[in-house]
Amino acid sequence: MTSIGEQAARLKWVQGLSWSEVYERFPDESQAKIRSAARRWRKSSLTNNEERVILEHVGANQLEGVADSRRMKTLDDLICECQVDLDIWDVERFKLNKWESAMKLSDDSVHVEPLYQVSATFIKKRPDELFPVIKPVRFDFEELEWPEKSIVPKQFVRTLVIADPHFGFVKDGNKLVAFHDRRVLDVILSVARIAKPDRIDIIGDLMDLAEWSNRYITGPMFYQMTQPALIEAAWWLSILKMETGADLYVYEGNHEKRMQDAIIKHLPAAYGLKGVFRQHPALSIPNLLGLDELGAKWISGYPADEGWPCDWLMFSHGNVARKGTGKTIKAVLENMEVSRVIGHIHRMELGARTLHYRDEQRPIYGFCPGCACKIDGTVPAKNPRNDWQNGCGIIDVTEHLLQVKPVFIDGGQALFGGRVIQATDRLNDLRAFAPEWNW
Ligand SMILES: [Fe+2]
Ligand SMILES: [Fe+2]
Repeated sequence: MTSIGEQAARLKWVQGLSWSEVYERFPDESQAKIRSAARRWRKSSLTNNEERVILEHVGANQLEGVADSRRMKTLDDLICECQVDLDIWDVERFKLNKWESAMKLSDDSVHVEPLYQVSATFIKKRPDELFPVIKPVRFDFEELEWPEKSIVPKQFVRTLVIADPHFGFVKDGNKLVAFHDRRVLDVILSVARIAKPDRIDIIGDLMDLAEWSNRYITGPMFYQMTQPALIEAAWWLSILKMETGADLYVYEGNHEKRMQDAIIKHLPAAYGLKGVFRQHPALSIPNLLGLDELGAKWISGYPADEGWPCDWLMFSHGNVARKGTGKTIKAVLENMEVSRVIGHIHRMELGARTLHYRDEQRPIYGFCPGCACKIDGTVPAKNPRNDWQNGCGIIDVTEHLLQVKPVFIDGGQALFGGRVIQATDRLNDLRAFAPEWNW
């Protein structure tokens, strides 16, 4: 039986199929695994006198070149052989592999010859214009399957809480610079895999929507960044759903509300307009992200949108922000007599207050899990040096008990489940998913 690498390599380079067509033939394997297996097979099948040079487009703005030979040993050799115009393309990545190939000669002696593989990725200096029309992200969800939730009775309900990813971009020249922190989001995926939550609550500001702000004036570098932000957010949500099977709740935050506010102000005729048989308005976050297809529930109505895992625990984005560590949680706990989990402040805060009655006392708890956006000043804010922290939280509840586990994420790493979790770079998977964007 031939290996996946050989089958994929033959489909790609002998039959000339595109990568997406090749991926379809191996529905159980990841795209990255198929590509690397195909390339490994191609390299291993090379004989001494052969050489292969392949240059192919991955979307409009990316080129990948690979040369297997004895002759080409440097990046310059590859550029020269493939005639890559460096006025148009920048080198993004370059790799050189060397291995030895043995050949038996007629006098029974063995001749060892070095072979080289030079590979490089090139990105267009001036990428093709981004497609400006905002449209819903549509996956072929019939193909997507997620695991069933555990039916083994548990004593508690477990929630993974994620706050403020702020999916969005700013243009730096022709590149897209993300507001959301991909390393943090990848660590959160690992936490989800380990913790196996029953539900995942994304408690507001999933999207940044900088260009929709009525309040802050935004420059042209923020224009037409909504579509790529929707694509990457929906891609990440689909991975989260498929890997956990948990119930997914997405809350409206003040940033999502920007879209409805802008429509009311500038295009009232479009406000609330729905496609026939559609649940959500055409120009709304749940419709644009395809939340129904993902089986995710949209909690709308900021600032009044709330989630209640039980009668005495409330999740919301929140609209209170006080300066100083712990000050917001203190204010929030003085507002209501239930335990609260909030977002919005981008800070990791945990606090408690005990309520006293005539013959009993009852503690209530407040928690903010930090944020999943960049904390280095990339996200537009009043102050570029904010007191923000990255993290998420695991909340377990029984009928009477609450356990909050903050997960601190720092430098793409977290300590969770008795191990160090390290973020992996999924940029190539994203590029394979939506190759038309200059990620
Ligand atoms: Fe936020
Ligand atoms: Fe917010």
